[in-house]
Parts: sequence; structure tokens; C-alpha cells
Amino acid sequence: MKEGPGIKNRPPAWMAKVEQLGLFPTPVWTFHLTTEARERVSGELVPLLDRLRPAPAERATDRGWQSPQDLHRQQECATLIGCINESIASVLRYLKIGYDVFEITGCWANVNPPGAAHRSHSHPNNYLSGVYYLRVPAGADTINFHDPRVQTAIIRPPVTALTAANTDQVVVRVEPGSLLLFPAWLEHSVDANGSDSERISISFNMMFSAFAEQLGKPLW
Ligand SMILES: [Fe+2]
Repeated sequence: MKEGPGIKNRPPAWMAKVEQLGLFPTPVWTFHLTTEARERVSGELVPLLDRLRPAPAERATDRGWQSPQDLHRQQECATLIGCINESIASVLRYLKIGYDVFEITGCWANVNPPGAAHRSHSHPNNYLSGVYYLRVPAGADTINFHDPRVQTAIIRPPVTALTAANTDQVVVRVEPGSLLLFPAWLEHSVDANGSDSERISISFNMMFSAFAEQLGKPLW
């Protein structure tokens, strides 16, 4: 441990050492596509979104647009879905999940023009959620994750500096080609697009197939 109580400053004479455990971590994984894969995904998705979106003259300039939630069934989404499926499989292996049959339950595009934001939310009835970043201009290249431990909001004394140990929000920076995976219950939000161009991301959810039959039995 590099930092912790009694570590940074000179420890008192009685203190042999101090240990700090990070219990019950909340993982957020970022996979990075290669330039080749990223360009291939863009080459497939950009024309698809151009086809699905309202005509330029009819587009709202003050709020975001979301596509239908079945992009994963579109042929143009096949390359991205292949990356997503392999990323999810690797996470399930890492977590030692003993059941690896899953499906993408929804996949949709979010287009945020300058000024558009996305309030805090989670994705119920799924196991994992994720986002792929197609276009993230500077000033619109972050996503916020919010502390899932609701108890920490009850008493929140002032702090002299925000650190990983006391914050209630973590801002994750993303770039074109970033593929995030996180627990579907983890609340997240997107700040207003502070750039002068569109931010485009592809959101998706994953759930275990045949959940009721295979996993939904009581554990006792
Ligand atoms: Fe979301």
C-alpha cells in the first residue's frame, strides 16, 4: 500500500504497520480497439446511423437522439457485436462465472449535440452494460460513475481534497475506440457535451440467456 492512514506522514512510535483492504470492488473495464478494428466499426456504423437518423434539417440541435434499441440485429453492427461478445466472454471468465450463455438484450446509438447531457441512470434486468465510443470530441470525452453505496450519502463531511477514498463520483475519460463494460446496476451519467461537435456512442446491455430456467432458482 503506497498511501493510507499513518503511511504518508511519520507513523507514531507504536505503529508497526497499517493495512487497508479494498473490499467488494466495483469493476469498470475499458477495452481498446485497434485502429484497424475501430475504422472498420466506423465504416459500418456511420452509414447505418445516417440512414436511421432524421434528415439533417429535422434534427434537434438542443437535445440528444437515440436510435431504436435493436442495432445488434443489424448487419452493419456485426463487427462491433463481435468485439462486444468477446469482451463480455472474457469478463465472465475473469469473474469465474460458471454459466457463459448470454445475449445482447439491447443496443442503441446515442448522439449528443453540443450541450446535450444524459442524467444518472442504470440498466435494470441486465447483468452487464457497456458503451462503445464512436466519436468523442475533446470536451465530450468522459462518463461519470456514481458511488453505488447509498449509505455513504448519509454523512458526508467536507473534505480537503477529492480522492479515490472519499469521492462519490468517478469520471472516466474515454476516446474513440474505447469499449466500456460495467455492472448494469452501476449508476452513470454523461455531462453536457462541451465541444462544438457531436458525440456518438453505442450503448448495449447483456443478460444471461434462459436466466429463469438456468440461473433463477433459489440458492438455498
Ligand atoms: Fe447508460
